[in-house]
Amino acid sequence: MANNLLKGKRGIIFGALDENSIAWKTALKVKEEGGVFTLTNAPIAMRLGKINELAKECNAEVIPADATSEADLANLFTKSQEVLGGKIDFVLHSIGMSPNIRKEKPYGDLNYEWFQKTLDISALSFHKVLQTAEKLDALNEWASVLALSYIAAQRSYPDYTDMAQAKAMLESIARSYGARYAKLKKVRVNTISQSPTRTTAGSGISGFDVFFDFANMMSPLGNASAEDCAAYIAVMFSDFTRMVTMQNLMHDGGFSASGITEEIVERLSK
Ligand code: NAI
Repeated sequence: MANNLLKGKRGIIFGALDENSIAWKTALKVKEEGGVFTLTNAPIAMRLGKINELAKECNAEVIPADATSEADLANLFTKSQEVLGGKIDFVLHSIGMSPNIRKEKPYGDLNYEWFQKTLDISALSFHKVLQTAEKLDALNEWASVLALSYIAAQRSYPDYTDMAQAKAMLESIARSYGARYAKLKKVRVNTISQSPTRTTAGSGISGFDVFFDFANMMSPLGNASAEDCAAYIAVMFSDFTRMVTMQNLMHDGGFSASGITEEIVERLSK
């Protein structure tokens, strides 16, 4: 059921790797709601992923950019404005990667070069996106910029290792840049803290299935799916949420406000 929520809006969507990606579902939802956009991902992910399929479906141009490269980001914002015919109204940063998690390094044996890579790709890149947009004056007034976070920014999850620090930094950047950009141009900046979701990045965390099931049992509404997340993102890009900024928005079926649930009691009583 489309409502034309994003009619006349132009955007950039980072991070669609395959049909499970939250960014992939978001692209489809934004298109359904009347928004136009460019798609982007790291050059290497483009070779491995299926972004061109999505681009075809969405009638969108693909502009490669490594989100850690300021030059790539400048090119992305400049080209996107040319292709879309004006300044940008929405940006989704849907990017996460930890070499330490990939190599299954425990928290007491992290490789610090990789730790810095985790922070650069998963958090600092959000600052680079915002700073590039500001320097190029690429965003319209009331534009909405979003990144995706996880509750490990606030609570400990042993297998999430250095991504927990990356998410804490990501949320902090949303607050700091949100304050700056609101004053400069009424641009809003938020993070959405999403339930565990079966994607390439999500399933890379060891023990993912267990904490997916645990979160599902601890959430009165159950885990939020990638499609649910895409719908929330569309609303956050729309004019219906103009005064929301500098927030970390929980999108988790009630998980973060639950102490214990009947499902957990039942399971542990057996
Ligand atoms: P995904 O694996 O489909 O997406 C991650 C994307 O990051 C990929 O498209 C990848 O190519 C991109 N990426 C990695 N390095 C990059 C770089 N240097 N430059 C540009 N792009 C780069 O997985 P998913 O789950 O859709 O991830 C999207 C976001 O959602 C991430 O920030 C993730 O941490 C977050 N998130 C995911 C949850 C889950 O359980 N899957 C839960 C909460 C948040």
